[in-house]
Amino acid sequence: MPAKCLIRGRRKTRSPTDLKLPVSLTKALTMSQRRLFVTTALPYANGNFHIGHIMEYIQADIWVRYQRMQGHEVNFVGADDAHGAPIMIAAEKAGKTPQQFVAGIAAGRKPYLDGFHISFDNWHSTDAPENHQLAQQIYRDLKNVDLIETKTIEQFFDPEKNMFLPDRFIKGECPKCHAKDQYGDNCEVCGAVYAPTDLIKPYSALTGATPLLRSSEHFFFKLSDPRCVEFLQEWTQDGKLQPEVANKVKEWFSVRTNADGTTSEGLGDWDISRDAPYFGIEIPDAPGKYFYVWLDAPIGYLASLKNLLDKRGESYEDYMADPALEQYHFIGKDIVTFHTLFWPAMLKFSGRKTPDNIFVHGFLTVNNGEKMSKSRGTGLDPLKYLSLGMNPEWLRYYLAAKLNARNEDIDFNSDDFMARVNSDLVGKYVNIASRSAGFITKRFAGQLGKEDPQAHLLYALASSSLNEIRDLYESREFGKAMRVIMNFADQVNQYVDQKAPWLIAKDAARDAELHMVCTTAIGLFKDLTVLLAPILPRLAAQVSDWLGIDVQKWETGLAKLTAGHVIKPYVHLMQRVDVKQLDALFEPPAQETPAQAAIESIAPGGEEIAPAITIDDFAKIDLRIAKIVNCEAVEGSTKLLRLTLDAGEVKLRNVFSGIASSYKPEDLIGKHTVLVANLAPRKMKFGISEGMVLAASHADEKAQPGIYVLEPMPGATPGLRIR
Ligand code: MSP
Ligand code: ZN
Repeated sequence: MPAKCLIRGRRKTRSPTDLKLPVSLTKALTMSQRRLFVTTALPYANGNFHIGHIMEYIQADIWVRYQRMQGHEVNFVGADDAHGAPIMIAAEKAGKTPQQFVAGIAAGRKPYLDGFHISFDNWHSTDAPENHQLAQQIYRDLKNVDLIETKTIEQFFDPEKNMFLPDRFIKGECPKCHAKDQYGDNCEVCGAVYAPTDLIKPYSALTGATPLLRSSEHFFFKLSDPRCVEFLQEWTQDGKLQPEVANKVKEWFSVRTNADGTTSEGLGDWDISRDAPYFGIEIPDAPGKYFYVWLDAPIGYLASLKNLLDKRGESYEDYMADPALEQYHFIGKDIVTFHTLFWPAMLKFSGRKTPDNIFVHGFLTVNNGEKMSKSRGTGLDPLKYLSLGMNPEWLRYYLAAKLNARNEDIDFNSDDFMARVNSDLVGKYVNIASRSAGFITKRFAGQLGKEDPQAHLLYALASSSLNEIRDLYESREFGKAMRVIMNFADQVNQYVDQKAPWLIAKDAARDAELHMVCTTAIGLFKDLTVLLAPILPRLAAQVSDWLGIDVQKWETGLAKLTAGHVIKPYVHLMQRVDVKQLDALFEPPAQETPAQAAIESIAPGGEEIAPAITIDDFAKIDLRIAKIVNCEAVEGSTKLLRLTLDAGEVKLRNVFSGIASSYKPEDLIGKHTVLVANLAPRKMKFGISEGMVLAASHADEKAQPGIYVLEPMPGATPGLRIR
């Protein structure tokens, strides 16, 4: 049995960077073996994967593969989130039972997961027996410590369908702005938040019937209990969570917004029950009551793990009881509450192990956050990507290069994708092998020679970056890791350029030198492959086969080559991205009619309306009336004007604005305009800009020139807020 794993917190003090750097790559460090249980969020079983799901799986998979390469033991599991009213209703529409419906979705998962090399050890379902049993047990455990209570609440009921309606299935007129057909919880037109019972002329989105108010007994998890509050405050604020996540969570302890728009102090109790008919897990001793889908969904993590261990004949109880076990969940930013409040509290007070951390990522958008529209084909369909013969490792590399440890959105950009893959992966990395491998086969019968002692500088560089790269993988700073690795690839290419083996090869007397240079380049290529193996698992396997060395193991993979070792003939490892593939990927599906395309492509001002935001999002922008007290040209810039603004504050503001093509300074002096007053100051070449003035323009400024600065109606004075 290997030494016990390092537990979180203690590990820091034993981080490889604290130790002396190894002199050569052969002396990679030995860390105690860790035991890791890792999951991604469980996708709703109401549709196929989209590219956002694949991004989450790739992020987690890279981390997991990195851990496995270090010799750690990982159980990496996923499952379908099968329950809930929307899936029940979708199944009914499809003429299937919910079980048949989710089975159909589950059957379609494999091509995505295999296609993108996602190395889950198990894929299960929250409707599986393990989950029913675990959810009921956790509920009983929580009830035993007096954290479950019942309250009678009033809810809308559809008399035709004979069911209570979830908020999403009630529509009506907004009580505030009177917009029609708004959802039961908030108005998409004015942003008002309210309870479904506040809607004017409410109707059921399922049947159109007028819903009736009915009371029903609901079960609540008492999150407001002082034990829960105290525990969660500590658990969420002890420094494990990403800082931006911890800060957001902190707000929930002070004030919360209720369904009716009012606010209350502190954490509220959590409604965990739903009435029949519902596709879910029955609540013990409560006929007709089911767990709300979000109660049993995260328990599905444990159910999938248990299913895996059972299949292997291992004990789930023993595994979970190991104090050294580390548990991590990769999730998106939209489901943080469930994972940082409800889930740890459920585990803690049912006497179970709590997660060691929750790793939160942002959202993936495609080509500048353009709304993903199926019929226009602007989304990136993962299966279409694969069916076009596009290499899944291109996407893995591209996403890795963009990912960091923060909860930030990232964008898939076609041009950027092609440039990075072609220049980094093919142009820098694969190029090293293709330039040196042929000579080994042709001139030295596949036998490697001695490595260049002069190249020891490169090895020193590699061994110091090695620890850095290891830390970057561990902390999920994949983008930074890729930069360090590509920098190393640059150094190796410089070495090959300097030596120019293709020139040495012309002189038969210099055979020994040729042998050494090519051997050195192949050795360094091997090291690069080890460093990239978490990102490029299939390519790493090909290289392992080519060289007869397992490059998917960190330590042995980084060992020096032995002279005389025989390698197979080189087979080209990776193609370049062809722009035609990207065109085809984003080409609209053939069945779209021109009329449909025309309707969808109406884009006012040259661009589509941006995705909806809430009134709270808007309120973050502090817009003020400002008077332009002075305006002048900026020497050295044809685009910018320098504005001096009075926004009613003690000091005047200096703002640079890219409007010189449309205005002369004297046009603007004395006018009022709109200032974004809380934009962080920005250092520009010509000075600091303390805000921004608002102006309108067409998306394609070249085709439709003209910039129009905003001016308020007469009477507005400096400092007034725009809301
Ligand atoms: N079923 C719940 C999760 C239950 S976990 C116990 C759910 N499912 S989901 O299918 O809507 O989302 C699954 C995961 O995909 C979530 O982590 C979510 O944040 C992530 N993503 C959904 N769209 C995404 C992007 N566009 N980009 C990146 N991740 C995104 O929520
Ligand atoms: Zn409204």
